[in-house]
Amino acid sequence: MEELLKTIIDNNRIWTKHGKVASYIPELAKANPDALGIHIFDLECNEFYAGDYETAFTIQSVSKVITLICALIDKGKEAVFSKVGTEPSADPFNSIIKLETRNSHKPLNPFINAGAIACTSLVSGDNGIEKFERVIEMVKKMANNPNIQVNFNVYQSEKLTGNTNRAIAYYLKGANIIERDVEDVLDAYFKLCSIEVTVKDVATIAAVIANGGITPWSNERIVPKEVNQIVQAIMMTCGLYDASGEFAVKIGVPSKSGVGGCIMSVVPKKMGIAVVGPALDESGNSIGGKKVLEELSEKLNLSIF
Ligand code: DON
Repeated sequence: MEELLKTIIDNNRIWTKHGKVASYIPELAKANPDALGIHIFDLECNEFYAGDYETAFTIQSVSKVITLICALIDKGKEAVFSKVGTEPSADPFNSIIKLETRNSHKPLNPFINAGAIACTSLVSGDNGIEKFERVIEMVKKMANNPNIQVNFNVYQSEKLTGNTNRAIAYYLKGANIIERDVEDVLDAYFKLCSIEVTVKDVATIAAVIANGGITPWSNERIVPKEVNQIVQAIMMTCGLYDASGEFAVKIGVPSKSGVGGCIMSVVPKKMGIAVVGPALDESGNSIGGKKVLEELSEKLNLSIF
């Protein structure tokens, strides 16, 4: 397997030249655009990795998967989906266009920024700090890594420049989608996006989801079965925003991307996969990461369809 992964990384490194690192959050512009790495965690707890697998990056929108898990556990699906939809937006992740025109101002799904900010407000906790702690503890548990922490330079950079998200959050407050203090919810959201991980951490998280919400290393259920199913379905249809359909056709597994360059992929009942490649395409998805997953899916016949 590791020889195969090394070959796939080498075959697709060229694609990193066709993308750009995120710069709307200034700190993210410091990422290495040439980096490309992969980690696989299978359900027998075998691990395989290649390329720049040791690269540390901020989880960014991959955190929205764990925020959704926590919101569903804490408030139940009826309450969550009364505030956020389950439909693909076909728009960029930070679009606000459909907030005004669709769905009684309800964000179309939990993975666009508007939906994730709404889900953050629904997580248990009396304030932003408690909401953040609730979710990062779940991240640590699913990643089996108690040492995971926030990259404060990215957090500060995002907090200082996150005006589109601020506009989204205040709009949601006006529409009674968010009922808590807006700045408190935003602070928790910015911190969650700034959690620093490696592809090992993210592949381990994906393996828990691939294993039905149960940790492969200790056989402990940490995600309820129904929540685990819901999250995978929304990852499949919405996980890469306006590129989700193409990703389903070409790779065919539930996945979630982040502007730090990570794509987390869940191969149900088989494995968790994480790739990192900070050079992004126009949809904010890792261009090299997508190509690596496409070749891997083809070679290992991973598509669920
Ligand atoms: O709020 C933002 O814009 C970023 N913290 C997260 C966006 C993101 O990762 C989109 N995914 N590709």
